[in-house]
Amino acid sequence: MSAAAGGVVLLGATGRTGGRVLRQVLERGVAVRAIVRSAARLPPGAVADARLTVVEADLASMPAEALRRHVEGRSAVICCLGHTVSLRGLFGPPRDLVEGAVRAVCEAAASLRPATPLRLILMSSVSVHRPARADVRRGAGERAFVRVLRALLPPARDNQRAADALASDVGAEHPFVEWVVVRPDSLSEGDPSAYRTHEGIVSSLFRADGTRFANVAHFMVELAIEEAAWRRWRGQMPVIVDDVAASRA
Ligand SMILES: NC(=O)c1ccc[n+]([C@@H]2O[C@H](COP(=O)([O-])OP(=O)(O)OC[C@H]3O[C@@H](n4cnc5c(N)ncnc54)[C@H](OP(=O)(O)O)[C@@H]3O)[C@@H](O)[C@H]2O)c1
Repeated sequence: MSAAAGGVVLLGATGRTGGRVLRQVLERGVAVRAIVRSAARLPPGAVADARLTVVEADLASMPAEALRRHVEGRSAVICCLGHTVSLRGLFGPPRDLVEGAVRAVCEAAASLRPATPLRLILMSSVSVHRPARADVRRGAGERAFVRVLRALLPPARDNQRAADALASDVGAEHPFVEWVVVRPDSLSEGDPSAYRTHEGIVSSLFRADGTRFANVAHFMVELAIEEAAWRRWRGQMPVIVDDVAASRA
């Protein structure tokens, strides 16, 4: 039986990464329940797939009981939420969009008590660090840059807090949730290609590596579906970057 036999709940399916996750999960024959604000923004083609169920709702104001129903019986939740790049999206509510979603999913799982822990796969960023200084210490300039970023941009703060919620708070000893925080570097368009995954950060923020949306989507789908990938990475915050040399070879 597939590790994703119960299907996947997808948050952010109308986004650049989420849309690719949606297509890839469906291509692999797995059922998806997408919770979106507007079905009209879903990728064309995916909407007609019988394995897709669309829930049109605003996650930020969704009652706990409704989310609980959507998660019930599912094997995994993939979260590709991100703040819209506009003045309102970056600085308006909900400033804790991603953290709030992560906490709400953990709460739903705690009340559902599934026999197998729910997999929660969170899209994050290399600007997010692991707890207890597990990552290589960044240089003083980079640390200052990240501090300014978090002070000025609520979404940067939200990403760190969402990861912290899993690694050091509600997700840390959760009996019914296992998680992976996926940290891409500088995101770009392009077809799926070879990529590498690392336990910690590998590049300076000022000399960023590239990561294609399509590769992030592939890795997240692998985590949702493949047992070996899950065992390798659960409870960790892998960094994913394109393998440029392998793609050229
Ligand atoms: N490492 C990097 O370089 C890097 C770069 C960019 C992003 N990231 C991180 O990766 C994640 C996803 O990035 P992306 O570029 O794929 O995102 P994106 O294309 O901007 O998509 C964001 C998704 O979140 C949804 N969303 C936004 N505000 C919402 C709200 N208030 N309520 C419910 N849904 C909402 C959007 O839905 P609508 O269609 O309804 O707006 C959309 O589906 C983000 O957390 C981001 O911080 C990392």
